[in-house]
Amino acid sequence: MKVQLFQLKQQDRVGWIGLGEMGYNMANNLQRYLASRSLTMTVWNRNPEKSKKMHHHGAHVAKSIEDLVAQSNIIFTSLANDAAVEEIYEILIDLAGQVDHSIIFVETSTIYPALATKLKERLAVTPQHTYLQCPIFGRPSLAKAAKLIWVTSGDEKAIKKLCLYFTTMSKSIIHLKTTDVARACSFKLVGTFFVVGTMELLAEGLTLAEKADVDQESVLKFIEAFFPAPSWTEYSKKMVQRTTNPKDVGFSVELGLKDVGHMRQLAQETGASLPTADLAYNHLLILKEQGKGHQDWSSMISSLKISTPTSSRRHSEESDHTSVDDDLEDKKECRPPAYEAS
Ligand SMILES: NC(=O)c1ccc[n+]([C@@H]2O[C@H](COP(=O)([O-])OP(=O)(O)OC[C@H]3O[C@@H](n4cnc5c(N)ncnc54)[C@H](OP(=O)(O)O)[C@@H]3O)[C@@H](O)[C@H]2O)c1
Repeated sequence: MKVQLFQLKQQDRVGWIGLGEMGYNMANNLQRYLASRSLTMTVWNRNPEKSKKMHHHGAHVAKSIEDLVAQSNIIFTSLANDAAVEEIYEILIDLAGQVDHSIIFVETSTIYPALATKLKERLAVTPQHTYLQCPIFGRPSLAKAAKLIWVTSGDEKAIKKLCLYFTTMSKSIIHLKTTDVARACSFKLVGTFFVVGTMELLAEGLTLAEKADVDQESVLKFIEAFFPAPSWTEYSKKMVQRTTNPKDVGFSVELGLKDVGHMRQLAQETGASLPTADLAYNHLLILKEQGKGHQDWSSMISSLKISTPTSSRRHSEESDHTSVDDDLEDKKECRPPAYEAS
């Protein structure tokens, strides 16, 4: 049975699925723009409470995903992980096969490249529809301030048509100019690697500063003066101030493990080496195992405080049984290579 398209006057009927930390802020900015043009968007979220918040901003709340598909010819999705994206697109692709109107799907979540290709290919069975993969950079505070960085991939005509909408949510747009939607996911993972790599570096340096009795506030001043990039200044402040307030979660440890897991898999598949990501992954995993998966991922610094070099840990565990020679061997293992004067 064909889903009936609502006969609205406006040409663009925007739908939004996923109102989490990112989705809510992005949808809110887009809704504000649409309202200024006497348009409105239709939203759906698994937890209906979040949709109610959007209703206060003038959005229409869909009764179901089917309802949203019937009312929209542009559908944005912002979902936690690959499993959620796959689950929702199963439904969307099925419904898209039943409608007469064409729909442009704009998937913004961070997912593994192969999944984007799979979704695009599955949707291509109904050729009137279009699939764009448009991952985003920036924390929820930047999403709120409409200062995200958007990355576009997919059909160029559709991207041009929606560009104005993208600009209502972002400070800059990087057009990859490719119909290969997997590339945008790989691009996103490379970009996120730079972020998590920065965090790993900061966590290690700030831990060294603390252990060596170097004043942390002075280190923050140095970072501000020497590395005045938002990722350096904001994450170092968060780490020193140890913000574990549940309300101050921009990007959770759980989501971090997903992204870092994806970049490690991509590295493995392409023959690249990503040792920094391996370190960061382990530091995030320690937090998850402690039941702290909901915390902001900058709390990975606390994993460094408990991690001790393997050789010294083994030394303390076996101290009752080690000889003086073993002790010296262990100490040698711990020592960094001697500095060779030229
Ligand atoms: N946070 C960041 O700094 C950031 C930055 C760039 C990109 N991203 C990416 O953007 C995406 C969204 O991130 P976020 O921070 O907004 O995550 P979030 O706050 O955890 O929100 C996740 C959204 O996915 C929905 N969801 C999860 N599982 C679902 C399922 N099985 N079925 C239907 N809906 C489901 C949630 O619905 P409920 O409300 O019902 O739970 C919520 O709307 C992720 O892919 C993330 O990696 C995040």
